Amino acid sequence: MALIEVKVPDIGDFKDVEVIELLVKPGDTIAVDQSLVTVESDKASMEIPSTHAGVVRELKVGLGSKVSEGSVLLLLESDAAAATPASVSHAATPTPAAVPAPSPQTPPSGAAASVVEVVVPDIGDFSEVAVIEVLVKPGDTIVPEQSLITVESDKASMEIPSSHGGVVKALKVALGDKVSKGTPIALVETSGGTAAPAVAATPPLPSPAAPPAPTPTPTPAATPTPTPAPAPAPAPSGESSAPGAAGRLPHASPSVRRLARELGVPLGEVPGSGPKGRITHEDVHAFVKKVMAGDVQTQAQKAKAPVAAAGAAGGLPGLLPWPQVDFGKFGPIERKDLSRIKKISGANLHRNWVMIPHVTNHDDADITELEAFRVQLNKEHEKSGIKVTMLAFLIKAAVAALKKFPEFNASLDGEQLVLKQYYHIGFAADTPNGLVVPVIKDADKKGLLQIAKETAELAAKAREGKLSPAEMSGGCFSISSLGGIGGRYFTPIINAPEVAILGVCKSSMEPRWDGKQFVPRLILPLSLSWDHRVIDGAAAARFNAYLASVLADFRRVLL
Ligand code: COA
Repeated sequence: MALIEVKVPDIGDFKDVEVIELLVKPGDTIAVDQSLVTVESDKASMEIPSTHAGVVRELKVGLGSKVSEGSVLLLLESDAAAATPASVSHAATPTPAAVPAPSPQTPPSGAAASVVEVVVPDIGDFSEVAVIEVLVKPGDTIVPEQSLITVESDKASMEIPSSHGGVVKALKVALGDKVSKGTPIALVETSGGTAAPAVAATPPLPSPAAPPAPTPTPTPAATPTPTPAPAPAPAPSGESSAPGAAGRLPHASPSVRRLARELGVPLGEVPGSGPKGRITHEDVHAFVKKVMAGDVQTQAQKAKAPVAAAGAAGGLPGLLPWPQVDFGKFGPIERKDLSRIKKISGANLHRNWVMIPHVTNHDDADITELEAFRVQLNKEHEKSGIKVTMLAFLIKAAVAALKKFPEFNASLDGEQLVLKQYYHIGFAADTPNGLVVPVIKDADKKGLLQIAKETAELAAKAREGKLSPAEMSGGCFSISSLGGIGGRYFTPIINAPEVAILGVCKSSMEPRWDGKQFVPRLILPLSLSWDHRVIDGAAAARFNAYLASVLADFRRVLL
């Protein structure tokens, strides 16, 4: 085993080119010729392969590093035997990546207007490479060295510049065509002033110090290695290069990637309309338009949305940004990270609040008799260890109301309403880490004592942070009870995809007129929030009234 410095081989006229992608990391076992990094100039991008096999010990370059021939890319722990001297020399072979050669049809400088056929110059070992982008059209006025087409092999993509300036008269290639050195690209009408064979003969990345490139030799970066499937075009560095949601690398030409970087577009999120899903200039522009119109949100914007709700920077299109205040200016402060539960529930609550047209109806239930019954029940079952609170009655009453008003036991699915024939009731539980909603499954099939026992167990598990996802899913309707704490009425936020939630506050003795006199009654304040897309105000008022009547006299459940 020996530590080997793997260096950039001779890459022709490419000098001080930027590393835009790291394809390996310390600890990776790599093979000879495996691509290590992608570099990009203003005209081409290419992957640099390894000269040796072994285990990567240390990377010597990072994203944005500038490299030239001889720059150390990484330290490799290599079994000397695994090194392939042949491939080292092979890898050190230079590549005139996009050096345009003067075409045989080049008129002498200063000649009168004439039509020249611009051909693919000597592009090293690239032959039969696919045209993935046509950058000009007939009628366009072009200058010498302006990119005409983009070609792509399995390891590199490059733009082919024009050897002449003038007006494009006709195109000789189309998307998907295979081109090699000498393939005609376009007919360009040049005037004496615009024909510039001297300039046309200049490589796109002039490097006077670089030795002349022996053209016929193989190119490490550009020679197609035996890759089973064509690799996507390499991604650039920075935010704009992040792989898309599906984990794909953006497939785009260097100029498209450059455009994306300039505009701050996350290329990985742009749908590609070109061949093999390649992203075009038009795709990038269309994506920007959609984001500006608010039709599309980038992943970064989505990630910021819940944070914005919690008071950080960011916001919704069309709204003022969240105020940035230096609170420390006004007095001592302490900063704390939000708990995991707060982050998750905050994002859900925000979405539900923004997306559901909430309305809240407030009502009162006279629970004087029910409370007396509850106290009696608890006395009778003192030894069982089960304590019946108002919550268990509320769950049973909610089931009765859901049976009577089925659209409350529903979810919206596009333009359909999903009506559930089961009765799983969630209840909000306050825990040291934030709000969670455990669910009592099949509450319609369970007795009051069973429900009281399960709510107590689930609430205890919630406070210990031990609820399983299954214990928090499948709810049809939720109850948020602040009865043990206080308050009068509030606006609970619907727990999507449910369509209604019942908020309950602390009951209190109040004078009620019985037709002859005021009598003291125990009154429970109810707050029902409902989704106006599914439920109408009249139905909500009826639901509340029915709920109150059941709580006033549970025998009504039998009716
Ligand atoms: N009116 C008067 N008293 C009430 C009441 C009501 N509506 N509801 C409960 N109480 C009483 C109980 O009887 C109990 O009394 P006791 O100590 O004398 O026996 C006391 O308040 C505490 O009850 P609690 O432990 O809260 O039990 P619970 O079954 O009523 O509620 C939870 C259980 C898990 C729902 C509750 O503890 C909880 O976390 N509530 C907060 C929900 C929340 O945060 N909602 C806001 C969402 S935005």
